[in-house]
Amino acid sequence: MRKLILAAASIAALALIGPAAAQSPIVIKFSHVVATNTPKGLAAEKFKELAEKYTGGKVKVEVYPNSQLYKDKEELEALQLGAVQMLAPSNSKFGPIGVKEFEVFDLPYILPDLKTLRKVTDGPLGAKLLKLLDAKGMTGLAYWDNGFKQMSANRKLVTPADYKGLKFRIQSSKVLEAQFRSLGVIPQVMAFSEVYQALQTGVVDGQENTWSNIYTQKMHEVQKYITNTNHGYIGYVVVTNKKFWDGLPADVRAACEKAMKEATEYGNGQSAKENEDALAEIKKTGKSEIVSLTPEQDAAMRKAMEPVYKDVANRVGQPLIDEFLKETRGATN
Ligand code: LMR
Repeated sequence: MRKLILAAASIAALALIGPAAAQSPIVIKFSHVVATNTPKGLAAEKFKELAEKYTGGKVKVEVYPNSQLYKDKEELEALQLGAVQMLAPSNSKFGPIGVKEFEVFDLPYILPDLKTLRKVTDGPLGAKLLKLLDAKGMTGLAYWDNGFKQMSANRKLVTPADYKGLKFRIQSSKVLEAQFRSLGVIPQVMAFSEVYQALQTGVVDGQENTWSNIYTQKMHEVQKYITNTNHGYIGYVVVTNKKFWDGLPADVRAACEKAMKEATEYGNGQSAKENEDALAEIKKTGKSEIVSLTPEQDAAMRKAMEPVYKDVANRVGQPLIDEFLKETRGATN
């Protein structure tokens, strides 16, 4: 795959120096792994519409959804090599390229709601985290929402004990690994594009995801139960290749920044509704039983996962966790 990515990168470089370069638009290839009718898919389409409009056609954005071009880990390598120019991987996927700090967003129950999340992403902590990407040849442009995660399996998941011994697909985050180990689950890292089949064939027993991802990947068709836990959050960091971005003509970059700002407001303004709609669609199919927890059952889940904060303190950094909690829980330490 690396060879393929390199070949694509050199073709892209050649295209830039061709004689028609002056007239032809600058192409931004935006690769992502989810369906178009999801919070990320729709925000990417909005960015395309606005960037092309605000640059007067100087930029052409090509959006490639559904892992059409690259899967989770490959897409980050492709961006670093310049084979694509824009991505929006989830916070949970930056560990393998050496930026583990974004995994702080994966801590169980760290975000009570999306309003609290904005305090982090729109404030100095959000900006500080984006800056970490510079050293990896990337520029962080925005934070995009998906929403809160639910647990699914073919076993009814109500108490922490119900999880014991099951195999769950996880994204490539050590915090998620620790979260599932705290429940006695065997976690298995797997690309998003492979989850449906892995659930269908029983390679894994369950998974965690948002309603919109569950619905658009048809996971509800191969999982008997989905428990409404809201135990964690999936959001994205929109990233671009730093060299590419810095090399854009100033007026084009400014127009793209404006498009990104507005696409972010649009996407984040409707992500919650998209997840509610997806839940309603799943209910309509009647293929999965939606399980709700009582306040006592919810408290038991929280308690079972509490040790994760200590388990990952060294990896994510205790000062970062404290800074995050200060924003989200109003703690004073
Ligand atoms: C996942 O891998 O489950 C998600 O990060 C997919 C996505 O991009 O929402």
